[in-house]
Amino acid sequence: MDLKKYLQFHKQNIETALRALIPLSEHYPPQLHEAMHYSLFAGGKRIRPILHLATVEACKGDYHACMPFACAIELIHTYSLIHDDLPSMDDDELRRGRPTNHIVFGEAVALLAGDALLTEAFRLVSNGRSREALDPTALLMAIHELSSAAGSQGMIGGQTIDIESEGKEVEAETLQYIHVHKTGALIRASTRTGALLCDRPPEHVERFTRYGELLGLAFQVRDDLLNVEGDPERLGKSVGTDAARGKITYPGLFGIDASRKRLNQLVHEALEAIEPFDEQADPLREISQYMVARDH
Ligand code: IPE
Ligand code: IPE
Ligand code: MG
Ligand code: MG
Repeated sequence: MDLKKYLQFHKQNIETALRALIPLSEHYPPQLHEAMHYSLFAGGKRIRPILHLATVEACKGDYHACMPFACAIELIHTYSLIHDDLPSMDDDELRRGRPTNHIVFGEAVALLAGDALLTEAFRLVSNGRSREALDPTALLMAIHELSSAAGSQGMIGGQTIDIESEGKEVEAETLQYIHVHKTGALIRASTRTGALLCDRPPEHVERFTRYGELLGLAFQVRDDLLNVEGDPERLGKSVGTDAARGKITYPGLFGIDASRKRLNQLVHEALEAIEPFDEQADPLREISQYMVARDH
């Protein structure tokens, strides 16, 4: 299969669905909706919703019925980036190849655009289309997983320790906590909720969950590496910022070579987790390889 075409195709479907599902940028209040659209349609890779939909395909589920859920994951991710870039957080000025949200709209509107994206996510997953097309218990379980992944025991826990650890000497255990939570939780939830919405037996759900968990870790190790050796033009964000802010990162703690090894090992284990599934899981297999090689 041609992974590039696969990613492009699903990315386009997600963009179309997002435009149809979220309030127009002209809606009142205009500055809020413009700010939401500004970050949402700035050219993100959409890897989380793609992982969700690729899991749905591997489970032979209903792709279209799961689309609002996939979009909701992207809304939560985009909100997390807007808040992550704020001056009181990572204080970044470039994201998705554009000035960050607060640089364009000011801190108050950036905060509120993030709040709105997070809340809209839960409006989408509970909308009529989802309620009619999906099993209500499966949908409720998936919503529970998604909110846990985004909350204080998930992504926000990770973000908190990431910020608190700046400039400090920390142990490998703390780095692991940060990676598992700030990035791993939402990626894990992307595949896990795909399997849950398809009503798969628990042992299958566990395998897709494990795959997502490992891939989520690999994703952040690659993000850390790209912050050291990536091309800012290609990345659409600044590099060298982790070292400048005294962030705890995988290459910072273990070096570049060990990071590359860890990345390969995580992807290898992720592939093992989905080994029993048929060729409809091939896109997931290809995506895991892409985690090692991605340059943005
Ligand atoms: C960046 O995520 C933030 C992390 C959690 C590592 P992505 O690399 O998926 O960013 P976009 O969505 O493509 O901009
Ligand atoms: C971002 O982590 C994690 C979340 C937004 C939840 P980073 O701060 O390491 O990601 P980048 O490098 O700014 O994209
Ligand atoms: Mg951060
Ligand atoms: Mg950041």
